[in-house]
Amino acid sequence: MTIVVTAATGQLGRLVIDELLERVPATEIAAVVRDPVKAAGLADKNVELRIADYDDVEALENAFHVGDVVLLISGTEPGRRTAQHKNVLTAAIAAGASRIAYTSVIGGLGATFALASEQHKPTELALLQSGLPYTILRNGWYTENYTDQIATQLEHGLTGAAGAGQVGSATRRDFAAAAAVVLSTEGHENAIYELSGDSAWTFTEYAAELSRQSGTAVSYRNVSVNDLADILAQAGLPREQAEVFADIDAAIERGEFRGGSGDLSRLIGRATTPLSATLADALASLKVNQY
Ligand SMILES: NC(=O)c1ccc[n+]([C@@H]2O[C@H](COP(=O)([O-])OP(=O)(O)OC[C@H]3O[C@@H](n4cnc5c(N)ncnc54)[C@H](OP(=O)(O)O)[C@@H]3O)[C@@H](O)[C@H]2O)c1
Repeated sequence: MTIVVTAATGQLGRLVIDELLERVPATEIAAVVRDPVKAAGLADKNVELRIADYDDVEALENAFHVGDVVLLISGTEPGRRTAQHKNVLTAAIAAGASRIAYTSVIGGLGATFALASEQHKPTELALLQSGLPYTILRNGWYTENYTDQIATQLEHGLTGAAGAGQVGSATRRDFAAAAAVVLSTEGHENAIYELSGDSAWTFTEYAAELSRQSGTAVSYRNVSVNDLADILAQAGLPREQAEVFADIDAAIERGEFRGGSGDLSRLIGRATTPLSATLADALASLKVNQY
C-alpha cells in the first residue's frame, strides 16, 4: 500500500509529507505534483514523484495505483475546484485506490458560507456517493491565515466583520499531523472529523495578544460585511473573492468557525498549537526578515 498525497508542493502538502515521514518509510509515500521543479525537495527525501494536474484526468489516472490511500488536498482555483476534485475522485476510483481522504472545511455539509458551497459540499457529496471508502477532514481555519499578516496588522490594526465571533484555529502543522495519522493508521474508514484548535479566540483577543507580545498597540476595527468586501477589493482582491472572504467573517460571527469537537487533538495525540505560540513565531520571523 502506498500513501499518495496530492498538492504536495503546497504549504499543507509539504507538512503532510514531513509528518508521514515520521510515521512510515519514504518508500511507502508518493507525492502528486503538477510541477516537478517545485518538488525537488520532496525527491531529495526519497518520496516518489508522480506528475499530474487536477485538470488532466488521464495523468491523474496514471498517478494513482491499485490499493493507494490518497489524500486529496483541495485546490486553489475558484470556480474550477469542484470539477478538479471530481477529476481526482474519478481517476482514483478508476485506478483502484483503496481509500480517499479529503481536506474539506469545518462544518462540511452543514456549513452556510459560500466557500463551503462552492467546493467542499459538492466534493463531500461526490465522495459519499462514490462508493469508495473515505475519510473527511473538515479543517478549521489555519492560524497562519492571520499571523501571516502581522506586518500589516502592526501598522494598521486588524479590520474584520466577525464581531465577537470566535475562531478555533490551529496551525497547518496541526492539520497536517491529523492527515498523516488518518492516512497511516487503521480505523478511519468512512469517518468524518471536525478539526479545530483546542481553544478559540475573538479578533479583539487576537489584537490584544499581538499588542502584548509586540509592545505595539494593535486594535480591532469591526465593519459591516459589505464594507469588508469593499476594503478587500480595494486592496486588490478580485471582487468575487473579496465577497467570499467577507462572507467567512459573517460565518465566524455566527459561530461556524468556533469548533470545539476535540477531534484534532484526539487524532494527533497532543494539544493543538495555541494562538500565542503561532504569533510568537510570526513575530520572531518578522524580526529576522527586518535585519
Ligand atoms: N483551512 C484553511 O485555513 C485554508 C486556508 C487557505 C486554503 N485552504 C485550502 O487548503 C488547501 C491547502 O492549503 P495550502 O496552504 O497548502 O495551500 P497552498 O500552499 O496554496 O497550496 C495549494 C496546492 O494546490 C496545488 N494545486 C493548485 N491547483 C492545482 C492543480 N490544478 N493541479 C494540481 N495541483 C494544484 C498547488 O500546486 P503548485 O504548488 O504547483 O502551485 C499547491 O501545491 C488549499 O489549496 C485550499 O483549498 C485552507
